[in-house]
Amino acid sequence: MNPPAGKAALVTGGAQGIGRATAARLAADGWRVAIADNDAEALAEARSAHAGLLALACDVSEEASVAGAVREAAQAFGRLDALVNNAGITGAAGGPLESLTLAEWNRRIGSNLTGVFLTAKHCAAQLRATRGAIVNVASTRALQSEPHTEAYSASKGGVVALTHALAMSLGPEVRVNCVSPGWIDVRAWRKGARRDVAPLSAADHAQHPVGRVGRPEDVAAMIAWLLSDEAGFVTGQNFVVDGGMTRKMIYVE
Ligand SMILES: NC(=O)c1ccc[n+]([C@@H]2O[C@H](COP(=O)([O-])OP(=O)(O)OC[C@H]3O[C@@H](n4cnc5c(N)ncnc54)[C@H](O)[C@@H]3O)[C@@H](O)[C@H]2O)c1
Repeated sequence: MNPPAGKAALVTGGAQGIGRATAARLAADGWRVAIADNDAEALAEARSAHAGLLALACDVSEEASVAGAVREAAQAFGRLDALVNNAGITGAAGGPLESLTLAEWNRRIGSNLTGVFLTAKHCAAQLRATRGAIVNVASTRALQSEPHTEAYSASKGGVVALTHALAMSLGPEVRVNCVSPGWIDVRAWRKGARRDVAPLSAADHAQHPVGRVGRPEDVAAMIAWLLSDEAGFVTGQNFVVDGGMTRKMIYVE
């Protein structure tokens, strides 16, 4: 992979989980990295665990907050070459459809989908100037569902569609792609109060065609490649990183 020599990246939701692993991977590859997150405690822990990260308090669902964080990152680095839109509220929301409140629906759409629009909007000028790249993090739940996941699934389906819309609007200067993770065990990459390293069961791993549950590093590796010059002919796409689960045919015996 081409070394990015002085390039700068902004990773939203970078204080925990997949975002934190991605920030660590990009920093190890030589990127200057800013993480933007709305969890102050997690931001402080991430900053002390990974020296050199620029930690920015930011709620991606609020336009003024996004504009401020992007400004701070661009001022600190003097440029912006990559945006990773990873921030998101995970998991099911609000129980059955009949009791899902509009407020809970809007909260998920706000952080998971509107946040991607806002950060792309406010980073666009910087990214055009550097011929940079965006990677959005959606989910395999954009493609398939369990009951009672309407808000989350809709937000992630929106991220996949927004990805190809942005690729058309920001090209040819900026490439825009999407990664859809399956089950990724992020518990060890969370702040202390949310950390959990209890082993998963053998059945959890065995149900995956690759024989194991995913790791944050699996997603970070795909993101790192999509941001690199090696992916220069790739834009507008959604890449599923799920150990084969969405390709597995399931019949109950
Ligand atoms: N872990 C999985 O199995 C999985 C699977 C598919 C998709 N994803 C997606 O990957 C992304 C990361 O998930 P994770 O599992 O690492 O979760 P996580 O909860 O460990 O980390 C998410 C981070 O985003 C931050 N965040 C949430 N809302 C925010 C907001 N409005 N503004 C700023 N920061 C905000 C949180 O504070 C947290 O630090 C999410 O978009 C999630 O939907 C995760």
